[in-house]
Amino acid sequence: MTEFEPIIVTFACHYCAYGAADLAGVMRLQYPASIRVVKIPCTGRIDVHHILTAFEKGADGVIVAGCRIGDCHFESGNVKATKRVQYAKKLLEEIGLDKERLEMYYMSSAEGARFAEVAAEMTERIKKLGPNPLRKEAQK
Ligand code: FES
Repeated sequence: MTEFEPIIVTFACHYCAYGAADLAGVMRLQYPASIRVVKIPCTGRIDVHHILTAFEKGADGVIVAGCRIGDCHFESGNVKATKRVQYAKKLLEEIGLDKERLEMYYMSSAEGARFAEVAAEMTERIKKLGPNPLRKEAQK
């Protein structure tokens, strides 16, 4: 039996987390292939609908990765995103998905190592949780 390889959609802010992901690549830091990075201008652009759609389409996990609090280039985008992620976690539970499948992280563009660490941490977490049950439903 092959090991479950999760798909983790990672919404990464252009100014920080995306830069960190890029830097991780430049530094040749290994991070799991489960991470599918989607560049966004700011995490403040993410709404609950985007997160739920990712799960509905079969993502096993979702990361929202933004600038550190106080460093958002649009002032409070990451604060808004934090609240939306919290709200989305509640909705996930209501539809029977573990809220641990979703997480918000903060980092600067200089933190390539942190990006790789977050990717590994989230991949391990999702492997323990198993495949997204919505995906299994879709495959029946
Ligand atoms: Fe990075 Fe807003 S610009 S989270």
